[in-house]
Amino acid sequence: MLAIGGDHASPQLKEEIKKHLDEKNIAYKDFGTFSDESVDYPTYGEMVANAVASGEYEKGILICGTGVGMSMTANKVRGIRAVVCSDCYSAALSRRHNDANILALGARVVGPDLAKMIIDTWLEAEFEGGRHQNRVDLIMDVERKNFQA
Ligand code: RB5
Repeated sequence: MLAIGGDHASPQLKEEIKKHLDEKNIAYKDFGTFSDESVDYPTYGEMVANAVASGEYEKGILICGTGVGMSMTANKVRGIRAVVCSDCYSAALSRRHNDANILALGARVVGPDLAKMIIDTWLEAEFEGGRHQNRVDLIMDVERKNFQA
């Protein structure tokens, strides 16, 4: 199950993405926002990141104007490895090598077709483990050393 959210820059793209996920029978919960009235992206970034970090949702998709603020916010939540992508190669490798659990997209950066391709690529790619597991463990060591519980 996916957790999805975004700020006021996101609703139009978010709706397109939801239609795409519906067509593929991929389950999700939309945490909002649902209008273009100005909101603060960290509110929604934290909600979705917490939903993923708790284990209730397997992965998350966050959308803001650039995807930058959302990825920064989500990466402040313990257990989250968020990546902002505007290309399919990074999306694939962020899963295969970095075991990213949140994908951030910029609604003002990527068009809907590219966003859907990036999402498909990200959801289909699997973490390869092995030497990459060791490196992801090292990332999480950095988190443990620098963040209080
Ligand atoms: C809101 O205008 C914009 O700052 C936000 O959507 C996002 O791009 C932040 O990183």
